[in-house]
Amino acid sequence: MSTVRSKPVQATEPALAGLGLSLNYGDLRVLNEVDFSVGAGEAVGIVGPNGAGKTTLLGVLAGAIKPDRGTVHIGGQDVTKLRQEMRCRKGIGRAFQIPRPFGGMTVLENVLVGVSYGTRVSRNDAYRRCVEVLELCGLIELANRRADTLGLLHRKRLELARALATGPQVLLLDEIGGGLTDAEAEQLVDTIKQLHGLGIGIVWIEHIVHVLVQVVERLVCMDAGRVIADGEPEAVLSDAHVVDAYLGGGH
Ligand SMILES: Nc1ncnc2c1ncn2[C@@H]1O[C@H](COP(=O)(O)OP(=O)(O)OP(=O)(O)O)[C@@H](O)[C@H]1O
Ligand SMILES: [Mg+2]
Repeated sequence: MSTVRSKPVQATEPALAGLGLSLNYGDLRVLNEVDFSVGAGEAVGIVGPNGAGKTTLLGVLAGAIKPDRGTVHIGGQDVTKLRQEMRCRKGIGRAFQIPRPFGGMTVLENVLVGVSYGTRVSRNDAYRRCVEVLELCGLIELANRRADTLGLLHRKRLELARALATGPQVLLLDEIGGGLTDAEAEQLVDTIKQLHGLGIGIVWIEHIVHVLVQVVERLVCMDAGRVIADGEPEAVLSDAHVVDAYLGGGH
């Protein structure tokens, strides 16, 4: 009998996964054996108190931060050694808490930069992609405005558009709802729901939990570098550890 065992073929490898991720900054253990995954087209929220390691986890998944231990996989492929740009080309797009558009460039030009960062496309295709992204993100009317003249909601939308322009299969969003009014946050939720409806996987860190749960099917709670709960949003939000570590703190 053969002793060679083939790797079991899974019907669906996670679109993006981190396994056993650990990271120390000096004596501070920022990530402690974190396992995290998001399925193709799945929307997952990440919550947890300030300093829990949420943004760091996103950075490690995106390839901006190197973990001390653990591996990162895209569609089952080990990408731990791949740089951020290469992971982006493999379908990982990222939008930041503080939008960083090129202020002197127009909205369209900013999105065009995202398109060329994520993929190699012809000029026509790039332009077409830009228009699609601007329409999806509610920015088409503002295509020729300089980015530094935009208000906060539109800057957030542009941040989303720049990430979307890279053609992601998974979109990593870090507190993009912060600072918005309730009405503005609702508008952003509508856009993100639309992206999710297109089959794009979403990983969204957000402190505004009632906004987050409108979009996500699964919630992960982190505390002190660990995942302390992972499951259906309702179950996670009523979990005693989550209430204690996060919700009890006035969030
Ligand atoms: N480059 C760095 N050097 C040293 N410590 C860092 C660095 N980046 C983050 N930290 C620390 O690591 C911990 C986790 O930070 P991180 O930004 O991942 O938390 P977070 O969960 O995103 O918090 P918040 O909700 O405030 O955004 C914090 O204690 C933070 O001060
Ligand atoms: Mg953060």
